[in-house]
Amino acid sequence: MDEKVIQAPFVQEMMDATYNMWRMGWDERNGGNISYLLTEEEVSSYLDITRVLRNLPLNFPVPELSNKYFIVTGSGKYFKNVKGNPEDCLGILRVSELGDSIDILWGLKNGGNPTSELPSHFMSHIARLKVDKNHRVIMHNHATNVLAMTFTHELEEKSFTKTLWQMCTECVVVFPDGVALLPWMVPGTDLIGEKTAEKMIDYRVVIWPQHGIFGAGTTMDETFGLIETVEKAAQIYTIIHSHQGGVKQVITDKDLIALASAFGVTPREGILQG
Ligand code: 13P
Ligand code: ZN
Repeated sequence: MDEKVIQAPFVQEMMDATYNMWRMGWDERNGGNISYLLTEEEVSSYLDITRVLRNLPLNFPVPELSNKYFIVTGSGKYFKNVKGNPEDCLGILRVSELGDSIDILWGLKNGGNPTSELPSHFMSHIARLKVDKNHRVIMHNHATNVLAMTFTHELEEKSFTKTLWQMCTECVVVFPDGVALLPWMVPGTDLIGEKTAEKMIDYRVVIWPQHGIFGAGTTMDETFGLIETVEKAAQIYTIIHSHQGGVKQVITDKDLIALASAFGVTPREGILQG
């Protein structure tokens, strides 16, 4: 039975994504977490959904997610190890009818718990589902250059977004809504979950200064690609700002407006002039 679960496309996607995130250097040690919304049909094709292994209480009730299924990374699990031991590092769960507990249906084999960032994940899923019915994935990691940029760039959403758009020509096309920023906060708390979710109504990217990035998307690839693009722009920023010679030319506002129009996207208002 368990071998069958591991063959499920959504388990394979989690194994590949965690491994790729680790390869990118975004997930040192147990850094990072993913949660992926699944349908009952998907889960029941690979698993007996009436067999509950454990029930864990939630101290932040999520009635909006009542009876919804997720596959999540476990707390303290190293992303480099997920591929080799998915049943220990991942868990498939269902939110209870009242939204006040979760049933573990598979995985987290050795008594593990879902990621400590579950409040931010669940609250972000609720926010994104309000604005995007196809929403499915929340991904968090410690993308190196995004993190670096939160030390060297002012922490203001509009100017941070504009700098990122200016770093690679296709950024404005990939994230026309820009990026949101929170103040530095203690991770793993309900409060950072609430603040992240408030931003997720309007943004698919939320940056936690000196910590990392949250991305939302409809597929694993799209979410990975979103974070990859923001991280690439932050890398260019960090490279060019460590250059003695400084920056000699930029992508202008006029260029970005022309680009957005050519690709049919609408950049968030109030950032570009012209
Ligand atoms: P978990 O191992 O609990 O998922 O925590 C990792 C992390 O990145 C916390 O922000
Ligand atoms: Zn983290």
